Amino acid sequence: MHTTSTPVSLASQPLVPALSDYTAPVEASKRIRWDIDKDVFRGRDFDFSTAFLPEGLARLGDLTFLSATDRRLLNQIQGRTYANLFGLVERFIGAKMLELSRDHWLGDQTALEAVVRFSDEELKHQAMFRRIEAMLAPAMPPGYRLIPNPNDVAGFVLGKSTWAVLALTCHIELFTQAHYRASIAPDPELSPLYKDIFLFHWKEESQHAIIDELEWLRADAALMPAERDAAVDDFIVLVGGVDGILQAQAAADVNYFIAAAASSFDAGETQRLRTAVREAYRHQYILSGAEHPRFLKLLGQLLNEAQITRISAALAALSS
Ligand SMILES: [Fe+2]
Ligand SMILES: [Fe+2]
Repeated sequence: MHTTSTPVSLASQPLVPALSDYTAPVEASKRIRWDIDKDVFRGRDFDFSTAFLPEGLARLGDLTFLSATDRRLLNQIQGRTYANLFGLVERFIGAKMLELSRDHWLGDQTALEAVVRFSDEELKHQAMFRRIEAMLAPAMPPGYRLIPNPNDVAGFVLGKSTWAVLALTCHIELFTQAHYRASIAPDPELSPLYKDIFLFHWKEESQHAIIDELEWLRADAALMPAERDAAVDDFIVLVGGVDGILQAQAAADVNYFIAAAASSFDAGETQRLRTAVREAYRHQYILSGAEHPRFLKLLGQLLNEAQITRISAALAALSS
């Protein structure tokens, strides 16, 4: 029997879609795309006669009992962990973006391109951070350990609501930029290769933060108030999970440092080392993002007073 029905929608669609919110990050991503070997490493090695992290991130200034050599070693250990933890969080960030890409498969093709490029860049960044560890391991004393496993962390994070994962991701990608601009770029004393790694990383992360925000707002718009309230709880659980990781890694890094350092330390000095490194990691990976003006503005836009107070209280409890 002849029928005019067809499974294919014939509703007219514009051949040239309206400009997408994702156009600017896609264009910037194409413009600044870099290669690990050709642009970043360029055959260079790390300079171990210099610090890796600026004092604004290492935060070892109060440890006046450290010799210059030991201070530099501890800074380099912190720099090794700083790079390794980026590689770790990028596992769940890349996976989440690939999951979210499904929403754009048959929709805004520029948005699809934006999240695909984003995921591709995070794969490249993970490869770059693995390369750093492979170069540092034989050049530094034996015994370093990265405590969290990237896939275990990703399993934990990706089990939470999309809103909470995107809030955490947006916060990470905002502090990535803030660290480079405010601390790493202005410090002339850092290992040139280490500094360049975070210059190039920052260039691509600038687009990621824009895409995180667009995706976070899209996820938020789909939520009922009770779901958003539950998502705030999820976010608080995620921040607590990150803090647990940082505490464990800080303890491992201080043990590694004490075993490798030229000096020995008494009980009081050891305690001061433990506190300083733990607080530096909390500043780097939680507080500098949570206090970022853009992140605070977004929370203010999306949440009510009570929800913001819950998050503030959870963050305040970290400094105890
Ligand atoms: Fe990255
Ligand atoms: Fe990123």
